[in-house]
Amino acid sequence: NPLQPPDLSKCHPAIKGDAGDTADCCPPFSDQIEFKLPSPKEPMRIRPAAHLVDKAYIDKYEKAISLMKALPDDDPRSFKNQANVHCAYCNGAYDQVGITPSVALQIHFSWIFFPFHRYYLYFFERILGKLIDDPTFALPFWNWDSPDGMQIPAIFADPASPLYDAIRAPDHLPGGSSPLVDLDWSRSAASLTPEAQWQSNRDVMHTQMRVMHTQMVSGAKKRTLFFGTPLKAGDAAANTGQGSIERSPHMNIHIWTGDPKQAHTEDMGNFYSAGRDPIFYCHHANVDRMWDLWKTLGPRRTDFTDPDWLEAAFVFYDEDKNLVRCKVKDCLDSRKLNYDYQKVPLPWLDTKR
Ligand code: C2O
Repeated sequence: NPLQPPDLSKCHPAIKGDAGDTADCCPPFSDQIEFKLPSPKEPMRIRPAAHLVDKAYIDKYEKAISLMKALPDDDPRSFKNQANVHCAYCNGAYDQVGITPSVALQIHFSWIFFPFHRYYLYFFERILGKLIDDPTFALPFWNWDSPDGMQIPAIFADPASPLYDAIRAPDHLPGGSSPLVDLDWSRSAASLTPEAQWQSNRDVMHTQMRVMHTQMVSGAKKRTLFFGTPLKAGDAAANTGQGSIERSPHMNIHIWTGDPKQAHTEDMGNFYSAGRDPIFYCHHANVDRMWDLWKTLGPRRTDFTDPDWLEAAFVFYDEDKNLVRCKVKDCLDSRKLNYDYQKVPLPWLDTKR
């Protein structure tokens, strides 16, 4: 049976990490409506690469995030409540409905990963657009799969900007001692020496492009390799179920961005706090972009057809504060959700050994 959305009235404190500290991230709840695709008459939102945006875009984006941060705590669209969505769905604040003994709801480590985060960003983006009254507003993507994008994008690194978050690894900021993203961070934490961190270092870049090629092309020839393994109602998620991109670079960049001096590598390095860093949504836009790209890379690279995936469901608040029940089957085509990605080069596509 497909994974069911949580019962929001039965939310309980989430667990931050092994030490057992808890976080309260339960969202408000209300009656649910069913998801409907946006009208095809709406303009297409084109998500730009974060390192390529212009001043006019940055102003809009900053304004939208400021307004979202200023919403009161009882507004489910507030930045705080949006960040808490991730905490609640990922750190055990919900049990799966109708399952005894209880099994925590966890949307990582399986085929649920891509569709959950797609909807999460979809609503986050629409809320931002509504707050600035701009139906074309689109989130930027962190183009970490290309040498030009392999740093924390500058728009997130200005301490005066609402896009800034102080709780990040200082060494990894632009201008820090190791600013170049290491796509294989978890396996080579100390392998990129500062001298090797230059974008002009061809060996380093070649290694990075090979990681991307493996995760997208040679190591992702089957659906389960790319998306992760099936997770159905009652199954407990295990991190062995991760798909290629979820594992690396997705997970590695989370941990790379978070501050190693914090107890739980906050903000980006723990699910409960990751959504508090505005860069989270930019990171995930690129993860989501990988799903679209993967489907263009060969004939067998298509979405699952298993009803246990297609009918799996979540709930999110939309831009009008409605609690919306969404099924995986309605989010498979991003263009039907009225957004797409700016076309940029894919330097990893042909990088082999
Ligand atoms: Cu839900 Cu990047 O994690």
